[in-house]
Amino acid sequence: MDDSLHADSLPKVPLVLIGMMGAGKTSVGQALSTALGRPFLDLDEEIEAQTGRTISEIFAEDGEPCFRLVEREVLMQSLEGSPDIILATGGGAVCAESVWTALHGNARVVWLDVPVEELADRAQLKGGRPLLEGVASPRRILRDLLVVRRKWYERADFRISTGGLSLDESVKVVLERLKEESS
Ligand code: S3P
Repeated sequence: MDDSLHADSLPKVPLVLIGMMGAGKTSVGQALSTALGRPFLDLDEEIEAQTGRTISEIFAEDGEPCFRLVEREVLMQSLEGSPDIILATGGGAVCAESVWTALHGNARVVWLDVPVEELADRAQLKGGRPLLEGVASPRRILRDLLVVRRKWYERADFRISTGGLSLDESVKVVLERLKEESS
């Protein structure tokens, strides 16, 4: 654990990582969980566990609007489940007023902000992202999505630019920022 930041010095509220596909929410969240000794949950994995289907199957069989309803329900449950959880959300999970009503004052929200060019390179490395499957230009899709989503992401308590940073560097920057905020 990073001995410069003790988990006990952080408010006991969920730490919610938001941002675009490929921003590193899951890997940064897992590393923060190890560093801080707090439980970690990946929202997409939880959705898959609860529904018994992959994210791609839910999109294909029920459509995106249905996926968003399930996503919001599982997000709300996760926030209520454990006050010290570190939660990595899916890229579109916080794009609704009802979600921010639940987050506001009840969680610390961190936006991992990465330039679109880098997101496109990273997001392509991992499959299972229906919004990018079979598209000619992931970069264009991501750019268009960010235009719509930026206003939601800007509601985060902190925006942390992790473009060009390794996982370890990203985690270090987030921990430093959390430390500054709690001192
Ligand atoms: C989505 C992001 C994905 C997943 C789904 C939709 C989005 O999660 O929830 O494919 O709308 O941006 P990641 O951000 O973890 O890739």
